[in-house]
Amino acid sequence: MRSHANGKNVDGLIDYFDSHVKIILKRALVSSCGFENHWFLITMACFWFLGPNGGAVQLNNKMQELFVTGGAGFIGSAFVRTLLDETDWHITNFDALTYAGNLDNLKDIDSSRHHFVHGNITDAGAVLAALPEGTEAIVNFAAESHVDRSITSAAEFLQTNILGTQVLLDAARARGVKRFIQVSTDEVMGSLPEDENAYFTEQSAFAPNSPYAASKAAAEHLVRAAHHTFGLDTVITRCGNNYGPRQFPEKFLPLAISNALNEDPIPVYGDGRNVRDWIYVDDHCRAIMLAMEKGKSGAVYNVGARNERRNIDVVGSLLDALGKPRSLINFVKDRPGHDRRYAMDPRLIESELGWRPRETWETGLKKTIEWYQQNTRWIERTRSGAYQDYYRAQYGKEVSAT
Ligand SMILES: NC(=O)c1ccc[n+]([C@@H]2O[C@H](COP(=O)([O-])OP(=O)(O)OC[C@H]3O[C@@H](n4cnc5c(N)ncnc54)[C@H](O)[C@@H]3O)[C@@H](O)[C@H]2O)c1
Repeated sequence: MRSHANGKNVDGLIDYFDSHVKIILKRALVSSCGFENHWFLITMACFWFLGPNGGAVQLNNKMQELFVTGGAGFIGSAFVRTLLDETDWHITNFDALTYAGNLDNLKDIDSSRHHFVHGNITDAGAVLAALPEGTEAIVNFAAESHVDRSITSAAEFLQTNILGTQVLLDAARARGVKRFIQVSTDEVMGSLPEDENAYFTEQSAFAPNSPYAASKAAAEHLVRAAHHTFGLDTVITRCGNNYGPRQFPEKFLPLAISNALNEDPIPVYGDGRNVRDWIYVDDHCRAIMLAMEKGKSGAVYNVGARNERRNIDVVGSLLDALGKPRSLINFVKDRPGHDRRYAMDPRLIESELGWRPRETWETGLKKTIEWYQQNTRWIERTRSGAYQDYYRAQYGKEVSAT
């Protein structure tokens, strides 16, 4: 990868140098082989231009066009920020602004390179109308993403996560988009035993246990089928539990932080011993950027920061960091079908793409807590209205105002 961080000028020089080295080497190749070896030359030239990844997107700093879906949500907005910060790309951000989408998440970004379109990925006409000519890649974050909501009602999950993904795949083919990146989850592979040294690899069998996980697994199958049947250049990334700024406070960690800040009881399912593999959101976004640029066509990459933690320990470190008492922990009836343990084996993305997380659990948690402490207005707004109805239905009580 060309350097992501602060490398705009450096990358210009690298491009210049790269193109001149190519010319010199090609001339050397021609003079040494003679014209009778033209097939050899053509093969070498193709290899040189396409590289070993068969034409993966070049994440250099020439202005390029990216179509991101779900970019007003938690991870999508972090991806938009990271990409705008570290490249000169232009992004069309297509989002239906469901309860989880929030334009506040996109405040203060470079609006000259970001174009927001309010639309639903299940609407093929709207997707085609918004998809710019010459789009290099589609990155699909748009999803119904909360397991508890999928247990209450699965209909929206099937619509967005399955049908919506197919609509995007069709649009990518129709418009000749070079690459399709599907952002998926470790949950498609079900649950691991708590007491065994077992990890999810890219070859692990699918065993989704919630309607959410089943819908994401179905989406992966459709992406795979588009690659296999139509030759669409696709990459799938699967990740564990993300944490960081701007996560909707129905999810475990932001719910715990916002309740702890208010000294409200923190609901913890069952015995609290369920294990999740935690990753700081920007580390996940950089993994997606790398997979988009360098990933092999048709590949799946597991993204994990080797950071397994029991839910009860996550709440414990949070309460300690905030100086709040453990008595805020409130064990509640377990989620039906609650997966016991997720744990990723990230060796493929580490060895093949050179990805490493930048944050440790301690530094990532500190950044996350500080963001919520400094953005109480954001929490207040997301916890108003429909969130109150959801919280009451889920936990049988009100959540207090911030
Ligand atoms: N949060 C995690 O820990 C995690 C882990 C692994 C994978 N993922 C995957 O990453 C992606 C993003 O997750 P997130 O946590 O940011 O989710 P999120 O719920 O915070 O955001 C989802 C976004 O998608 C938008 N959206 C929903 N339905 C849409 C539709 N039909 N058309 C267009 N936009 C729509 C929403 O408005 C919202 O902005 C999802 O695909 C999820 O499955 C999440």
